[in-house]
Amino acid sequence: MINMKTTHNILFQDARDLKEIPSESVDLVVTSPPYPMIEMWDEMFSHQNPEIQDALANGDGKQAYALIHEILDAVWDEVFRVLKDGRFACINIGDATRTVKGDFCLYPNHARILTHLLNIGFSALPDILWRKQANTPNKFMGSGMLPAGAYVTLEHEYILIVRKGSKREFKTEAEKANRRESGLFWEERNVWYSDVWTDIKGTGQKLPKAMSRLRSAAFPFELVYRLINMYSVKGDVVLDPFLGTGTTTAAAITSGRNSIGVEIDESFQQAICPVAHHSVDFSNSYLSDRLQRHFAFVEDRIQNSGALKYTNKHYGCPVVTSQEQFILFNGLKEVHTRGDNIFDVMYSTKPQDWNFDQPLEAVNGNKMKPHTKPSQLSMLDPQ
Ligand SMILES: C[S@@+](CC[C@H](N)C(=O)[O-])C[C@H]1O[C@@H](n2cnc3c(N)ncnc32)[C@H](O)[C@@H]1O
Repeated sequence: MINMKTTHNILFQDARDLKEIPSESVDLVVTSPPYPMIEMWDEMFSHQNPEIQDALANGDGKQAYALIHEILDAVWDEVFRVLKDGRFACINIGDATRTVKGDFCLYPNHARILTHLLNIGFSALPDILWRKQANTPNKFMGSGMLPAGAYVTLEHEYILIVRKGSKREFKTEAEKANRRESGLFWEERNVWYSDVWTDIKGTGQKLPKAMSRLRSAAFPFELVYRLINMYSVKGDVVLDPFLGTGTTTAAAITSGRNSIGVEIDESFQQAICPVAHHSVDFSNSYLSDRLQRHFAFVEDRIQNSGALKYTNKHYGCPVVTSQEQFILFNGLKEVHTRGDNIFDVMYSTKPQDWNFDQPLEAVNGNKMKPHTKPSQLSMLDPQ
């Protein structure tokens, strides 16, 4: 492929009706809806259905919970319609704990959403439990030593993973080659495909200033980047029906996927547009870090366990399995704005020039830095 380009559309509208998006046109949905029964979203949901406000005012938590999920159900129905056969939806959702009229209880959003997804025809796949690292050292202070009165602290969220229809097939040579280029490194696979993610913080991920979050409900870039790279290939179309600050747009841009983001609140435009415009530097530095981490892993692995069998054809560096031989990260060249809320991104189709002296901006506190140039890694001797 000589030129690579992706397009990113932002639609400011209600995701309960996505008639602008044709049926069976989307390859992956990654999203995080407003969490039902979390107070910060009461007003937004009540605006979409005033009966919710009435139920809350009357102290009827169960009725409010049911009505809020009816709003989300309408969006999941649209998600099912627009997804192509064999494609995935990944939904980040947390349960809520709340006291309504003196009654404290858990509102199990993940179970409610999964039930609806299955009812409308999705197949469930193993989910990911995202164990957030919470910095609350005093969380148990002063209570909980006496039985039957204290509650477990809620410190995890779910990433529900469902598929529409049967397994996706990659039939043509071009499709197979693109899939190989979109691969993950072995050591990434071992962490990303585990069912508990403990290494992604809920807040504080490093993004350029212009990409800083308007609300704390933003999910981490690393979380959505992983999901996009696990469940789609380059050139696919990724949809986020609850776009918020545009994290999914940013991760799709960095991953060489097209995207459509839907957001009901137009004030988010001031966060989303800078996301696209700052994505060249951000993405290139993120991709460079990802490569550096691989080189550091290889260096360590060769020294501790001996030579690796395969070589990546683009970077000339060792890899563990034959499936990693054609992985290629497309660096970004430029971003063009086309009309209101549409961005085109141009990419290089050549492997990055490796800048060995660039400081490593580590994700997840993993600050490994290789000491050997990639081209010389295969010449390393085991210790
Ligand atoms: C949890 S936030 C998403 C945060 C996003 N993942 C990010 O990283 O910024 C949920 C978003 O859904 C939006 N929203 C709520 N109801 C909506 C609807 N019916 N259609 C489209 N967007 C909606 C809210 O305005 C909010 O920005």
